[in-house]
Amino acid sequence: MPRFILSIFVLAGLFSLSACFPSPDPETIADPKNGRELYLNQTRGNCASCHTLDGNDLPSGPTLQGISDLASRRIKDMSAVYYIKLSMLGPSAYIVEGYQDRMMVYQVAGVADAGSKGDQLFTEEEMNNLVAFLLTQ
Ligand code: HEC
Repeated sequence: MPRFILSIFVLAGLFSLSACFPSPDPETIADPKNGRELYLNQTRGNCASCHTLDGNDLPSGPTLQGISDLASRRIKDMSAVYYIKLSMLGPSAYIVEGYQDRMMVYQVAGVADAGSKGDQLFTEEEMNNLVAFLLTQ
């Protein structure tokens, strides 16, 4: 077979292979370092005021140590990424045993920001960064 025809087959093969691997999710290209800053920032996320990362449950909130693994097992057929987002955007969807439905609702700007306070409002990018950070825990 002439070489150029062979290379057409190789190219076609590569092309169909790339179709099987869609471009990465925003979460996988997000910035966990910025997510950590938001997690600790007392005037933005302020997650650390209620959650530790060292395994100690506080009266104000359960520890988020091991959340990357736990999150994929909380709600049947729900991915860790989705569960962690849901924990912020709609925390009432799953209540951790021993706790009450006390966590405030965070929102993403431009999606449903009516009436939300500025410190509980993230951009979509910031939300993905927070998720990326929690996936490292
Ligand atoms: C005022 C206290 C408070 C703050 C601040 C807070 N949370 Fe929570 N969070 C809770 C409580 C209480 C629960 C358990 C009740 C429930 O499941 O909704 C919870 C549950 C969670 C869970 C589910 C944990 C699990 O084991 O399933 C995640 C994830 C979470 N919070 C992430 C966050 C993140 C990220 C932030 C910051 C953006 C944050 N929380 C800020 C109180 C808080």
